[in-house]
Amino acid sequence: MLNSSEVESRLTTRWMGHPVLYTQEIDSTNNWAKKEAAVGGPAGLTAIADIQTQGKGRRGREWKTQGGTNIMMTVLLRPEFSPEKASMLTIVMGLSVAQAIEKETGLQAQIKWPNDVVVSGKKLSGILTEMTTCGTGIDYVVSGVGINVNQTEFPEEIWETATSLYLESGHPFNRASLIASVLVFFEKNYEVFCETKDLTGLIDEYHRLLINKGRVVRVLEPGNEYMAVSHGINELGELLVEREDGRMESIYAGEVSVRGVYGYT
Ligand code: BTN
Repeated sequence: MLNSSEVESRLTTRWMGHPVLYTQEIDSTNNWAKKEAAVGGPAGLTAIADIQTQGKGRRGREWKTQGGTNIMMTVLLRPEFSPEKASMLTIVMGLSVAQAIEKETGLQAQIKWPNDVVVSGKKLSGILTEMTTCGTGIDYVVSGVGINVNQTEFPEEIWETATSLYLESGHPFNRASLIASVLVFFEKNYEVFCETKDLTGLIDEYHRLLINKGRVVRVLEPGNEYMAVSHGINELGELLVEREDGRMESIYAGEVSVRGVYGYT
């Protein structure tokens, strides 16, 4: 069973996850956290739900997930850095999710740049970060995480690219423990990020978990596709790739995506 106290009792954080708000059903935990932000909710507030009726994915897509089995959580942040840095928080969250899955399940979680978490080459988690500005600064940021935990089957159109912790291990996991672990890693990583306001202090750990490093990838730019070798990220979270003619490019996640040579990773 999932509820606020199941998560809060497992937290060792100073401010992340204080408070945890739970509801059984909501349109989207991101929308809920934004409403809390608008009425003064504190940084660290975390909204969780068992069912989302209008879950949102990246690039305007839907995030559809089996109710009552998975994690849908959103963290509210009130950063004091400039708005162009906020997109890096998605990478910080992706790293935290991969670390939590590795620690709590023993599965080999990896990151597909920029922030999808994969196990055995299949997607297990997605992150949607949204920002509201105020003048030239950030009013608040919400970072929403979906993790496929105890889902036992997927629709035919995604079964080759999606998985769950249950399917990878053969047994169910406690969602409250996993949520608490994500929050513990995220608090630590977020504070490291805030020291330099970039990914300098997190790059080594990110590279340890990055599936694309040293691999040939297909770079999908709008209207242009090419093969390149990925050399990991820079401190801004851009992927550094080497084209076949030796030219280096730094690619920005907002506009470009990458795939493996043979499939999703
Ligand atoms: C993706 O497209 O990979 C990102 C998916 C993000 C889904 C999560 S589930 C919790 C939070 N609430 C939402 O509506 N979306 C995010």
